Amino acid sequence: MKSKVWIALLCAAFLCINCTPKHSDPAQARIDSLLKTMTIQQKIGQLNQLNAKCMSREQLIEKVQRGEAGCIMNVSDSLAYVLQQQALRYTGIPLLIARDMIHGYHTLFPIPLGQACSWDTALVREAARLSARETRRHGIGWTFSPMVDVVRDPRWGRVAESYGEDTYLTSVMGEQVVRGYQMEGLAATAKHYVGYGAAEGGRDYNTTWIPEVQLRNTYLLPFYRLIKCGCEAVMASFNEVQGMPLSANKHLLHDILRDEWKFDGVIDSDYGAIEQLVKHGVAADKKEATRLAIRAGVDMDMESHAYKKYLKELIDEGAIREADVDSAVKRVLQMKERVGLPLQPSVEEDYSAEAMELAGRLAAESAVLLKNNGLLPLSKQSGKVLVTGPLADSEGDQVGCWSPDYEAGHGITPLQAMQQRGRVVYSPGLRYSRDRNTRIIRDAVKAAYQADVIAYFAGEEQLLSGEAQSLADIRLREGQRQLLHALHETGKPIVLVIMAGRPLTIEDEMAYADAVVYAYHGGTMAGEGIARVLYGETNPCGKLTMTIPRHVGQVPIYYNHTNTGRPARQEPDIQAIPVGTKAHPAGAFSFYLDYGTKPLFPFGYGLSYTTYEYGSPVVR
Ligand code: BGC
Repeated sequence: MKSKVWIALLCAAFLCINCTPKHSDPAQARIDSLLKTMTIQQKIGQLNQLNAKCMSREQLIEKVQRGEAGCIMNVSDSLAYVLQQQALRYTGIPLLIARDMIHGYHTLFPIPLGQACSWDTALVREAARLSARETRRHGIGWTFSPMVDVVRDPRWGRVAESYGEDTYLTSVMGEQVVRGYQMEGLAATAKHYVGYGAAEGGRDYNTTWIPEVQLRNTYLLPFYRLIKCGCEAVMASFNEVQGMPLSANKHLLHDILRDEWKFDGVIDSDYGAIEQLVKHGVAADKKEATRLAIRAGVDMDMESHAYKKYLKELIDEGAIREADVDSAVKRVLQMKERVGLPLQPSVEEDYSAEAMELAGRLAAESAVLLKNNGLLPLSKQSGKVLVTGPLADSEGDQVGCWSPDYEAGHGITPLQAMQQRGRVVYSPGLRYSRDRNTRIIRDAVKAAYQADVIAYFAGEEQLLSGEAQSLADIRLREGQRQLLHALHETGKPIVLVIMAGRPLTIEDEMAYADAVVYAYHGGTMAGEGIARVLYGETNPCGKLTMTIPRHVGQVPIYYNHTNTGRPARQEPDIQAIPVGTKAHPAGAFSFYLDYGTKPLFPFGYGLSYTTYEYGSPVVR
């Protein structure tokens, strides 16, 4: 019987795959009557989110048959369909199959921080749509993105997943990503609610202290906007705000999300975040953590196994109301009804010509030209180009962080793209971004003497950015600086291309290069996109969405900080201060004596191969 109800619900869901999710009363009535037939264990099962990577196929199937999961994450293709069928057969309720798809499934687009530099919301939406299409093809109906944390600290490895430091731009980009997903029936998650990007010192998972006024002015707006455009879920973040971790934060989850904003979608915990309430020190044990989380409003438990273990006990003891569990289950069932739940493998292929073309275009439009003394664009007349550097031919690194479904051999690296365009000689210089092997540096230098131009692809391996990949030192790694200096000694003109997951402090390196392009990790087609820019096939149009500091000590540094009562009038010069000068030698202003106030490149910076004239606006 239940199975029939759900098949009817699924048909309805499929009919609205290509439109913004709608909520119909008959569906609500069906959910209500289904809820009445469910036992408390069945209800709790719906709130349990399991990671397929943590158990065997047999264990997974068994748990699904017993109705112990409402959602399985990190599973795709044939097993996803098997689980879906088993869920329907044994429980009558389909599963949510979820995956972290952050900037593409198989075809990887530039990391979000790169995409934002295109400032092209239509292109970003289309990339999201094509990514959703591939994702759904693998049986996945729900993804944990977009990440709309506003970020101001490049030490934090997760800036790669963000759209940069501006609240409005982050909101607009996030909205377009949600719309792109909706066009293909993929449910989105606005994460990480909230303030996760403000981690003290840029150290992942760290404490945040964000006054309400800053929460509202800076961090909350993107979530509000995404909810208003129908984003199906919100993920509560790991961090604490004002001493209360989000998984137990009634004020932020209940008072703001539910009461003030009327959000009726699913609030998901982050991975293991409910049990981490004990480590945070706000719950004595996992049982108390469970009580705090459900009472604060967390609907689904991602891999803490807390709801499954303690919810019934807490209801029996009267510590929580069954009605709270019912409300959470309803929201999960509503989500299952609203999103298309793929039931059949698709015959379409990934890496479609459309997706690959867009990936190349977005990679080109994300690249930011920071310096050009006339060396660019390259042409056939540029002569022989030495292609070098650890990122020159590393497909696995150029795709960037959060690329769990990456498959080697589909991408175009800078080396491959440059070889298609001109005379190229290749010497890696270093094997990977942290390498310090000077022997191969010597080979690159020898090759440089035989070339006319050097194209040096520097930056970070993909593993240096993303979750838990915080850095205290955000310079180019030592070996890469050595390689640059050695190449510079040859006297050959150098174009330096940075492929990284974050802004790096490259002030010293600027002087050693004739042209500099900041390309971030550009995805599957990064090489193609960069080569189009280097050869002038695409006029560089990327503009930074995150300030590049001169020195890590300036962080946090962002364009729209408030004035202070003593804004600096000029940049101080520490060397010019006469010995023996007493206090306030450069005036009592708000700056660093050694690094002033200005960044290396501000938000919005980016050159092109042409010039523009800005005039007064004319109303016609
Ligand atoms: C991350 C989330 C992610 C989740 C599931 C967590 O560690 O913070 O962004 O969606 O894992 O993979």
